[in-house]
Amino acid sequence: MSFKQFNFPESPLQLIEHPLLTQKKMTLTVKRDDLLHPHIAGNKWRKLKYNLIAMQQQKKTALLTFSGPFSNHLYAVSMACKLFGIEGHVIIRGPHLDEQNPTIRMARACGLNLHAVDRATYRLRNQADYFHEIQKQFPHCYLIPEGGSNQHAMLGLEELAQSLPKSDYVMCATGSGGTLAGLINSCPDTTSVIGIAVLKQAEYLTDDIIRLAPKAGKKSNWQLMCDFHDGGYGQFSSALWRFCQMMRKECLLPLEPIYTGKLFYALWQLLEQDFFEPDSHITTIHTGGLQGLDGLRYRNLISHELKLLQ
Ligand SMILES: Cc1ncc(COP(=O)(O)O)c(C=O)c1O
Repeated sequence: MSFKQFNFPESPLQLIEHPLLTQKKMTLTVKRDDLLHPHIAGNKWRKLKYNLIAMQQQKKTALLTFSGPFSNHLYAVSMACKLFGIEGHVIIRGPHLDEQNPTIRMARACGLNLHAVDRATYRLRNQADYFHEIQKQFPHCYLIPEGGSNQHAMLGLEELAQSLPKSDYVMCATGSGGTLAGLINSCPDTTSVIGIAVLKQAEYLTDDIIRLAPKAGKKSNWQLMCDFHDGGYGQFSSALWRFCQMMRKECLLPLEPIYTGKLFYALWQLLEQDFFEPDSHITTIHTGGLQGLDGLRYRNLISHELKLLQ
C-alpha cells in the first residue's frame, strides 16, 4: 500500500439545465463526487483518504469503524479494505445481522469482520470510554468514527473544496456535519456554504461542526438549514422520491432520497422562494450514497420503478 494509490483523478463537474434555473437566472453545477471512484464514492472517500494515510503513519495493520447495517460508510470502508488489502473490522448496530441485506453482503464479500452489538451498546460509539475500551480489545486497529468525520477527514474535504469552481453558494447534505465542516474550513469567505440537514432537530450539529472546524465559530458565511429533513433521518415523502426520479430523467442526475435527494429537493424549494441572490452560481456536492438505493429496494421502501428509467 503506498500513498500514491490514494490519489484518484478528480471527479467531474456537471452543469444542470432546467426551466426553473433558467427562470431564476441561476447557474447550477454539480460536483459529481459520486463518480470519484467506481467503488469508493462520494464524501466517504474524501473522509477516508487521510485516515488511511494516518493509519499507515501509525503503523497500524488494520482498521476498525462503527456503522449502521445499510450505511454508505460501511460500503466505502468495505471496498477500501478490499482494494488496498487492509484487515477491516466494523462494530455494527444489531442486535442481529441480516445476511441478505445488500450492504452486508458486499461487506462480507470484501472480507470484513462484522461485530454486531445491541442498540444500547451501539449508542456508546462516540463516548471516549467506550472508544478506549474498543481500542484495548483491538490494539492493532486504527479507529475511525462512524461516518468517518474526524480531523483527518478535514484534509480530504479541503481537496474537495479546492477542486470546486468559483461559486457564490456551495451546498451539501449534512448528516454528522463533517462534510459541511470541511467545506466551511476551506471554501473562500466570499462563498456562502450551506448544509441541508437530513435529520430532525439537527441544530445540535452546529457544536460538532465548530469542534471539527474551529474556524467555523468565527465565520459568518455558512449556515445549517434544519427544515428540509422531510420527516427525519431515513424518512422521505413520495413527493421527494418523485423529485429524485424527475431529476434523473430530466437532468440526468441520479439521486437517492436519504441524502442527495433531500439536498436537491431543498435547493428547488429555495429557488422557488427566491432565496439566492440574482445571477448566482450555485455548486452542489453530489456526496454519493447511490448504493443505498439497493437497501431501500430490499426493504420495499421504494419501487423498482427507477430501474425502468435507467
Ligand atoms: C451520501 C451521503 N451524503 C452526505 C452525507 C452527510 O455527510 P456528513 O456526515 O459528513 O455530514 C452522508 C453521510 O453519511 C452520506 O452517506
